[in-house]
Amino acid sequence: MIKTNLGKSEVQVPRLGMGVMTWGDAKGMSRYHPAKIAYGGAHGPEEEQRALEAAITAGVNFFDTASMYSNGASERRLGELTRNREDVIIATKFPPGFFARADGMPRALEASLERLGRTTIDLYQHHFPSPSVSIPELMALMAKAVKDGKIRAVGVSNYSAAQMRAAHAALAQHGIPLASNQVEYSLLHRQPEANGVLDTCRELGITLIAYQPLASGALTGKYTTQAPRPTGLRRFMPYFRKNALDSLTPVINLLKEIGGRYGKTPAQVAIRWLIENDLVLPIPGAKNAKQAADNAGALTFSLEAAEVEALSRATEAWRR
Ligand SMILES: NC(=O)c1ccc[n+]([C@@H]2O[C@H](COP(=O)([O-])OP(=O)(O)OC[C@H]3O[C@@H](n4cnc5c(N)ncnc54)[C@H](OP(=O)(O)O)[C@@H]3O)[C@@H](O)[C@H]2O)c1
Repeated sequence: MIKTNLGKSEVQVPRLGMGVMTWGDAKGMSRYHPAKIAYGGAHGPEEEQRALEAAITAGVNFFDTASMYSNGASERRLGELTRNREDVIIATKFPPGFFARADGMPRALEASLERLGRTTIDLYQHHFPSPSVSIPELMALMAKAVKDGKIRAVGVSNYSAAQMRAAHAALAQHGIPLASNQVEYSLLHRQPEANGVLDTCRELGITLIAYQPLASGALTGKYTTQAPRPTGLRRFMPYFRKNALDSLTPVINLLKEIGGRYGKTPAQVAIRWLIENDLVLPIPGAKNAKQAADNAGALTFSLEAAEVEALSRATEAWRR
């Protein structure tokens, strides 16, 4: 299994991870967390367990969650499933709510450690920039947490190129690298190529963790104007509008054509397109073992340069 370091940190991960945003037993108001309303949950606790096992068996032992997902239920579930497993790498995120300040981080970190049942978190990420959270102040607290052994690597998420530079510089004062920036990136969301984020990752040696690598399921090819639309609020996302699904047809056809050469699904080819860039680490979500195993199959083949190029050309319109 090919491993890579998260940026210039010491944390080693496979070239693919798995997002568990929809997992966990959300109770009370947590059932109305945006992710649950948009996607619905995973297919029950047994399927979550089977999905985790299927991923690990295929070499995908890197799991992404956040304190915010269903008010901690996703972290708690991941913690239950991975207790006493040394072979699992866990990424989670601060803050637990929208109204946070940097000085709330140490307490939030303790709460995440408790829900995950761990003494250290492999990658701790700032979920999204916010005017109420000072980047230098937060990065100083992150650096302290690394020195205290509570986290192994520091990441950010949804940061612009300029915000990444600010976080990178603040951490450098403490001799700690910025390991990753987690942003939306897929064949249908190619802005990181145009807005400077990918270039800055390359320049500073930062891993780009690609979330929604399947464009929320649109790139699997299972949602068409003829087939059933996704459940939940997701069906109102721009990806699933009728004209968007219509304009997606040539992309899905190309994914099928390329996949046909290797016995691979459109989802596997779409994920592989991301993996072919050494800087990029996709984290597709999976609701069951079949999806987890299917997505992990992206690790067992490669695309020719001409195929990568053909997919890039076919999705040029999604670069803006
Ligand atoms: N940092 C952030 O702000 C942020 C934001 C969003 C997500 N994330 C992270 O990124 C992860 C992935 O993003 P995402 O779940 O939103 O989008 P995604 O990975 O693009 O899509 C996942 C969805 O696609 C469907 N699917 C997955 N694999 C499939 C397969 N092989 N065949 C058919 N259908 C498949 C499933 O839904 P259905 O079966 O219902 O279609 C699944 O829930 C999350 O779990 C989370 O960790 C981070």
